[in-house]
Amino acid sequence: MNKKFLILFNSLRFRSFSFLRYVFFKKRRIRIKTEATKYFYNLPAIEFDNWAESLDKKLYLEMKKFQITFQDHEKLFDFSPLGGARGLDQFGALYFFTRIVKPKLILETGVANGYSSFSFLSAMNMNKFGKLISNDLPPLNIEKEKWKFIGQMVPNEFQENWALHLGSDRNNLKKLCKKNNFELAHFDSDKTSSGKMFCINTLLKHNEINPIILIDNCADDFFWKSLHVSNYHKVIFEQSNKRFGALIHSNSIAEYHL
Ligand SMILES: C[S@@+](CC[C@H](N)C(=O)[O-])C[C@H]1O[C@@H](n2cnc3c(N)ncnc32)[C@H](O)[C@@H]1O
Repeated sequence: MNKKFLILFNSLRFRSFSFLRYVFFKKRRIRIKTEATKYFYNLPAIEFDNWAESLDKKLYLEMKKFQITFQDHEKLFDFSPLGGARGLDQFGALYFFTRIVKPKLILETGVANGYSSFSFLSAMNMNKFGKLISNDLPPLNIEKEKWKFIGQMVPNEFQENWALHLGSDRNNLKKLCKKNNFELAHFDSDKTSSGKMFCINTLLKHNEINPIILIDNCADDFFWKSLHVSNYHKVIFEQSNKRFGALIHSNSIAEYHL
């Protein structure tokens, strides 16, 4: 099927038009991203490994071990069915957060091949409890036969602690957040400002506890600059030369030495 037609067809199937806009306004997006990346990477940031080591040396060393395991695990997979892109670089940080927070429930948006899913589930396996609830919109330019590769890095033994939902955040997130209380969340799906805000607002509107929220794609636009969430502190972390944003509730700031 012609690629543009396939994107249109899948957009209608998932009622996902923000992603469609994202695909078609490529030139404008690239221009904003260049300026926004410069802005985001000039802000003060916390070097993740130093912070983690001073917070809990034992867990920090465990994270370093996990990073090596991860790199071996990653080699087992072919990423071409989902477009060929690797996942995020800060997988160690996701592992560490899961080990330190020890959440019963984690919410994530954006799965792709499963870098983040594998990291959360590996840490929950060490915690010996916890469930990951993920939502992912299959890339609109791939055929249905390839959706089975979404989360392919998650091994069978972790499947019972994992629920994967397919569809756009706008269609699925409200239902997931109404039913569950999350202690940790990771947003790495919709790259638009409004999409990222939608995820944060939907989670906070329904959650009865104050989750730690990790956000990728903060350098894609000026979302971070205009982000204000009452009673939450904005923190930027950097690991493996990659930055990500975190929202930490003011009640937890001292606990994490931030
Ligand atoms: C960068 S990838 C996620 C990478 C993943 N977190 C990892 O660590 O490997 C982004 C994913 O979000 C999905 N996505 C994009 N827009 C979305 C939306 N509006 N709702 C849900 N998922 C979306 C994309 O199709 C893609 O699978």
